Amino acid sequence: MSEVVVVTGSSSGIGRAVAERFARDGASIIVNSSRSVEEGETLARSLPDAAYVQGDLSREEDAQRLVATAVERFGRLDVVVNNAGTTKRLPFADLDGADDELWWRILGVNLMGPWYLSRAAAPALREAKGAIVNVGSVAGIVAAGSSLPYSVSKAALHHLTRALAQALAPDVRVNAVAPGLVDTPWTAGWESNEEILARIRLGRVATPGDIADAVVSLARTPYATGQVLVVDGGLTLA
Ligand SMILES: NC(=O)c1ccc[n+]([C@@H]2O[C@H](COP(=O)([O-])OP(=O)(O)OC[C@H]3O[C@@H](n4cnc5c(N)ncnc54)[C@H](OP(=O)(O)O)[C@@H]3O)[C@@H](O)[C@H]2O)c1
Repeated sequence: MSEVVVVTGSSSGIGRAVAERFARDGASIIVNSSRSVEEGETLARSLPDAAYVQGDLSREEDAQRLVATAVERFGRLDVVVNNAGTTKRLPFADLDGADDELWWRILGVNLMGPWYLSRAAAPALREAKGAIVNVGSVAGIVAAGSSLPYSVSKAALHHLTRALAQALAPDVRVNAVAPGLVDTPWTAGWESNEEILARIRLGRVATPGDIADAVVSLARTPYATGQVLVVDGGLTLA
């Protein structure tokens, strides 16, 4: 039986590459985004067996709808990839710029989204002996990244990974991938990219496919749970 996979934020970038990579192996995919409906529908049509579900993952009822659609449409759920994320470019030192609106928006998408979706998916994942893979960030390991609330949200997501691995064992494995700098619409035009590139030991920025390979392989590593796999080309080695 082929896998059924939900990939949040899959209209673009890393999520799109993850959806394509699983689909290449014969998986059935739920494609999702909150605003870019046309891009999401186009991707779903291009895959052999996929459905698009519009939904904002910071809303619990939308997360529940993703799971319900996967189970209704494909009969089971094997893998959830919590990839959708948001940020704003803001210097860490700008404490007043990190206002409540920004904090709640970032925590809503980057932390509560994975929580809502994991909780909604837990019964189906338990039945399938499935897996969750969260897309974190090296910004959740070192105190750096696009903004202070973003960095904190990804650190919390890494810890949610470990906590859910405890909670859902032995039936469901929960792991995370922490990318460094990835060439996606998210980072296009960032003025700091050249400076970051100079510190990447492998000498190049990651492609979305580099991160998708790690996500798919963690989803299928049967004896790993509660782990955060750094995939940053050596950016944070020293
Ligand atoms: N690019 C990097 O260098 C990098 C590095 C480390 C970690 N990451 C992480 O990788 C993940 C994907 O980033 P990316 O670079 O691939 O960015 P991207 O190309 O901008 O894709 C982000 C995706 O998330 C969706 N999304 C945003 N808010 C959402 C919400 N509330 N509900 C559902 N979907 C939502 C977007 O679609 P809509 O806007 O239409 O909703 C889009 O499909 C993020 O979690 C990010 O933190 C990226």
